[in-house]
Amino acid sequence: MTNMNRTVVVLGATGQQGGSVAAALRADGWAVRAIVRDPSGHRARSLSAAGVETVRGDLGDPDSLRAAFSGAHGVFSVQPNSGQAGAGVTNEDEVRFGTAVADIAERSRVAHLVYSSAVTAGSATGVDHLDTKSRIEAHVRTLDIAGTIIRPATFMELLVTPEVGLDRGHLSLLMRPNQTMQFIAVCDIGRVAAAVFGSPDRYVGRTVEIAGDALTGNALAGHLTRAAGRTIGYSRLSATQLAQGEVLCKLAALVDDGRLAGNAQLDALRAEFPFLLRFDRWLAGPGAGLLEEALRAKDAGIAPR
Ligand SMILES: NC(=O)c1ccc[n+]([C@@H]2O[C@H](COP(=O)([O-])OP(=O)(O)OC[C@H]3O[C@@H](n4cnc5c(N)ncnc54)[C@H](OP(=O)(O)O)[C@@H]3O)[C@@H](O)[C@H]2O)c1
Repeated sequence: MTNMNRTVVVLGATGQQGGSVAAALRADGWAVRAIVRDPSGHRARSLSAAGVETVRGDLGDPDSLRAAFSGAHGVFSVQPNSGQAGAGVTNEDEVRFGTAVADIAERSRVAHLVYSSAVTAGSATGVDHLDTKSRIEAHVRTLDIAGTIIRPATFMELLVTPEVGLDRGHLSLLMRPNQTMQFIAVCDIGRVAAAVFGSPDRYVGRTVEIAGDALTGNALAGHLTRAAGRTIGYSRLSATQLAQGEVLCKLAALVDDGRLAGNAQLDALRAEFPFLLRFDRWLAGPGAGLLEEALRAKDAGIAPR
């Protein structure tokens, strides 16, 4: 059977990860069914225009998941997280959504479930919105379903959002200037997921931490400076900023002990997924528009959207 005859259901296809997975699966010839809350919205319409079937559904509505999973070969599972601004979900919502997707995929006899988790999963971090992923992973492993768990590193896209201070010509993140952290381009999450669906014999039963680059804060600023054509400095979030929130302090500690910084085996990953973008290649390609937008916002004295 060719990929074209088989359907993969994609959650979150109007968002970053699901959108990249839907695009990569289509590029590999799969039929893609996206569960969307608003089929008339512009993102859902863009998916339809790209050949993706869109069906109305909601992570909180098990009947809609059951209907969408019927007859599908695979399911890509990702959930919104309480740590994301504006996501409007609690930690318990995320766990309920993630476990429901896996349970219904099992009962629907889906052949392959790919769950997108995060690098911090696998040990208790003490940060509730990170530990949700460990809880969902643990549940997935109890089920009688062929599954693969991918654990994406921090998204490169986060490096060109206003929150990090780029609009002021300065980048501030959780790691120290000479401390390394791993990152992945969102488009590569899709390409990895498509490769996983394409080679189940190789990936079923595996948990794979994925990243495309490992960079210090100073190295990030160097790449951004070259790409922007103007100086962009780097510093760790100040002690005052870190002291403002217990969670931020814990996140900084998780960078320091390596769990949030990431421990993907980059050489082995690159051999397996040769397309993985390094940060400079991402800045020159998929990230160019985002960087330009962030810099234009600085010129105009406004924050990017
Ligand atoms: N940022 C990072 O560096 C990073 C790294 C690793 C993992 N993560 C994890 O990535 C996940 C978020 O992925 P993302 O960035 O791709 O998300 P995103 O761009 O914010 O998109 C969220 C998607 O979920 C959909 N959605 C939200 N609530 C829904 C519901 N009740 N039913 C059905 N669909 C719903 C949204 O659809 P609508 O269009 O209807 O809103 C949208 O398609 C989080 O769990 C986060 O912890 C993030």
